[in-house]
Amino acid sequence: MATTVWTRRHILSLADFTPAEYDTILQTTASFQEVLSRRTKKVPALQGQMVANLFFESSTRTRSSFELAAKRLSADTLNFAPGTSSLSKGETILDTAKTYLAMGADMMVIRHREAGVPQAIAFEMDRLGVRVGVLNAGDGLHEHPSQALLDLFTITSLIDFEYPRIGLLAGKKIAIVGDILHSRVARSNIWSLTATKAEVHLAGPPTLLPQLFAEWGTGAEKREGSSIAQIPNRNLFLHWDIEPALKDADFVMTLRLQKERMTAHLLPSLREYHQRYGITRDRLKLCQPDVKVLHPGPVNRGVEISSDLMDDPQFSLISQQVTSGVAVRMALLYLMGSSKI
Ligand code: NCD
Repeated sequence: MATTVWTRRHILSLADFTPAEYDTILQTTASFQEVLSRRTKKVPALQGQMVANLFFESSTRTRSSFELAAKRLSADTLNFAPGTSSLSKGETILDTAKTYLAMGADMMVIRHREAGVPQAIAFEMDRLGVRVGVLNAGDGLHEHPSQALLDLFTITSLIDFEYPRIGLLAGKKIAIVGDILHSRVARSNIWSLTATKAEVHLAGPPTLLPQLFAEWGTGAEKREGSSIAQIPNRNLFLHWDIEPALKDADFVMTLRLQKERMTAHLLPSLREYHQRYGITRDRLKLCQPDVKVLHPGPVNRGVEISSDLMDDPQFSLISQQVTSGVAVRMALLYLMGSSKI
């Protein structure tokens, strides 16, 4: 187990995570991965503690993954479902959180379709002077730290199963393809992956690449003839064409087209999107021969990735991502529970 003393009570964003913190998470996750390979997949680390999963937005894998992670750590769990809750009677989100606090929650895992809700709840808990840890399980278009951390664990543990660490990604090329604009997964991944010394290449239609990057792009190097910009000091490259992003890539992260978050008609058609940006076997020929493909799920089969590729274990890490998710979330809950702050 890593020895770095954990000092974060809340995990809300990866923006200011240090390399040592990433490595602590990766190594703690590796220990829990080992626990999950045993016959008895449970440890008493959080016995007597309560984890409240407050998912104000729908979720399959993230919610189940947090619930299982908490149970494997022997914590008690309470799950909140907005449709059947007092929210529909007009209760505010902060009042809902305080209800769970009054029941003795030690940690709250929050998902909401508005950016900033987990931060607001964390702020309120700190204001009340209670030692409750808040974990952001996806807030609007902002961040989804545990997804990026499970992506990081999936790829680093593929390179070194025993000792996953961010240094393993130095010099690797990682392409993130698709609907970057609406993706909290991409935002968190940009923080974590650029912290590893990997080259990170974003590719997507101009309408789905955030304006923010255009601002970063002032001063960025623009190369003639290909729609590419490099953001200085960040090892981050932008492309409107997918080919230069895929060329020699070691890992390709595809993102779901998040139609529910689109407020305008940003694409001509799904068919055209697949033709220009879909990940197919043919396109993967541009990458390294042993390239691996990731997707956070849920997948629109045949849109962002071809259906047969998604199920091909030679290329697809999608089910490993789901498996890693439980161990990563055990590590996060464990570290928050042992926080020295
Ligand atoms: C992601 C999310 O909800 O942000 N999914 C997930 O957590 N597994 C990505 C998505 O919805 O496309």
